[in-house]
Amino acid sequence: MSTDSGIDRARLQSLSARERAAFAERHPRSAGAYEKADHLFGRVPMTWMNKTAADFPIYLDKARGNRITDVDGNEFVDFALGDTGAMAGHSPAPVVEAVTRRISDLGGLSTMLPTEDAAVAGAELARRFGLPAWSFALTATDANRWAIRLLRAVTGRSKILVNSYCYHGSVDESLIVVGPDGRGTSREGNVGAPTDVTQTSRVAEFNDLEGLERELAHGDVAAVLMEPALTNIGIVLPEDGYLAGVRALTRKYGTYLINDETHTFSAGPGGATAFWGLSPDVVTIGKAIGGGVPVGAYGLSRELADALSGRGDLDLVDMGGVGGTLAGNPVSMAATRATLEHVLTEDAFTHMISTASAFATGISKIIDGYGLPWSVSRLGARVEYRFADPAPRNGTESARSADAELEDFLHVYLANRGVLLTPFHNMALMCPETTTADVSRHHEIFEAALAELTA
Ligand SMILES: Cc1ncc(COP(=O)(O)O)c(C=O)c1O
Repeated sequence: MSTDSGIDRARLQSLSARERAAFAERHPRSAGAYEKADHLFGRVPMTWMNKTAADFPIYLDKARGNRITDVDGNEFVDFALGDTGAMAGHSPAPVVEAVTRRISDLGGLSTMLPTEDAAVAGAELARRFGLPAWSFALTATDANRWAIRLLRAVTGRSKILVNSYCYHGSVDESLIVVGPDGRGTSREGNVGAPTDVTQTSRVAEFNDLEGLERELAHGDVAAVLMEPALTNIGIVLPEDGYLAGVRALTRKYGTYLINDETHTFSAGPGGATAFWGLSPDVVTIGKAIGGGVPVGAYGLSRELADALSGRGDLDLVDMGGVGGTLAGNPVSMAATRATLEHVLTEDAFTHMISTASAFATGISKIIDGYGLPWSVSRLGARVEYRFADPAPRNGTESARSADAELEDFLHVYLANRGVLLTPFHNMALMCPETTTADVSRHHEIFEAALAELTA
């Protein structure tokens, strides 16, 4: 029997069993560490770490550049890069130096006092993304949460609109999908929702301007929160005219537009915003800009910043302020400044994007060679394949093309041969240290996996 992925299920299951056994054999110390972690909820420090293709996660020993060594001494070429948290590479030297200087030479891990680094980081974000007023959080989730609150406050409107199968962190308002009847409904897995999500949110499919206009026409949407390309349900690229259409419709209905660039930053030094010449009212971002040190940020247009500052009735400083006592802390700010000034530079992106292009071309060729109905999408330094051809046009189509069993097999097969992909995607990300030799290594193993699967 085969599914839409074009793969024989019985063969897949038997190969998966073989690879999982080999994985267990190669990782006795990781297995033991997992077994012993009795006082961690789910045995891991953060529950998503259980989202591993094998029966337990690989435990980290060392990481540098695009290489990871686990506690069993296995070395990996890392294309997962902490699901973008390490797009700057693991422990880039300029970030280590800046953070060490702050921690060790100067002192001051958390003081609730501004540092000059923050202003430099804000100015560089302003230059790259074209929005003049920046503020910092500790995660992209928090940046999104706070942006949403500001836009509700300034518009007096109650709802947020997102795309079906988006991911913006565990932001309550974003956990909505287009249901089978075409109406918004709570997303599967929306644990402990504070209220029915249709009370706080509207939803439209990506690449669907008609659906977007239908929802905006209610006049109750404070902001559209979107990625310029979906990146958390495969990569779904915008069709010609779609992003311009979103901007025109948001303006027509008095709705603010937030571009969440946390992942689409892969498109270039100024993310998809600069790459496609977009003009959002707000950009939110996190992960990679700190070079691996926790940080989130949101940038506001001048018009929006002035509108907020002009509202004497809004408490933007005390109780109603963003909160997050450690937000904007000296270590995050030193790391963000160093990452932007010295690591994720124009030159670095040129190299990362050219490496990603080689990655995408190579896997397309291999997939075509085996006649599989899969497709490959790339956004700058980020590449992903989906088990559907042509490439899905929106989140719902992309969700339909998921094949967890096949995905897990490919991940374990690659891990057993020294290559890591993001465990909850078929996503490969390039960092400044990733080379075309690393790409070729991935491709050899990927091709061997397809050869076995289709034999
Ligand atoms: C587009 C996007 N926004 C926000 C987030 C949340 O980031 P964090 O978990 O670092 O808060 C993610 C996480 O994957 C993301 O992909």
